[in-house]
Amino acid sequence: MNVYDIIVSRRTIRRFSQTPLDFNHLKKFVNAARVAPSAANLQPLEYLIVTEKMRCAELFRVLGWAAYIQPKWTPAEHERPTGYIVVLVKDAKNPYYKYDVGFAAENIVLAAEAEGVGTCILCNIQRDMIQQIFKIPSSLVVDMVIACGYKVEKPVVEDMKDSVKYWRDEHEVLHVPKRRLDDIIHLNVYP
Ligand SMILES: Cc1cc2nc3c(=O)[nH]c(=O)nc-3n(C[C@H](O)[C@H](O)[C@H](O)COP(=O)(O)O)c2cc1C
Repeated sequence: MNVYDIIVSRRTIRRFSQTPLDFNHLKKFVNAARVAPSAANLQPLEYLIVTEKMRCAELFRVLGWAAYIQPKWTPAEHERPTGYIVVLVKDAKNPYYKYDVGFAAENIVLAAEAEGVGTCILCNIQRDMIQQIFKIPSSLVVDMVIACGYKVEKPVVEDMKDSVKYWRDEHEVLHVPKRRLDDIIHLNVYP
């Protein structure tokens, strides 16, 4: 697949097979983040890769999943992520660091997608707990967690009608509404 096809077909994955992920695989995704655009090339980000089963279980407990799905849902034990990349910021005073996190995260999820690995970006996370579990010094800020694993679901994208909320149908397929291209493009003058 070319880059455009990977971008367009990527969907957030929240249900994973239990086939372990290789550390070198995750390291490759972090390498993609390492070379992402960075404001003033300050490169304030570092990454914690988590693959060990016990550590994954500890981290899983402090993550919030799919807030739009009711009743409250989290991946079942046999569908949990098998690896994580925790994005850390070493200079949170840098006013542009959130942009850097965004570009780094996108590089990670696209590099993973290209290798057949599904991902879920998570910001609904208990940052203090993550800091404690992994003994991350207070000089670093935990910004985001990217859950990784081999996919066992195939979400579908659909034109957004009246709600941004993703939903699951009777076959447990996740539907993700996206705004229509014609509704967000303005040619030469607004609107
Ligand atoms: C900054 C950011 C934070 C997110 N945080 C969470 C989260 O905490 N939990 C979760 O299940 N999904 C989270 N997501 C995934 C979004 O719900 C998902 O990207 C959105 O529904 C669109 O689906 P798509 O990625 O398949 O296009 C997050 C995505 C982004 C970009």
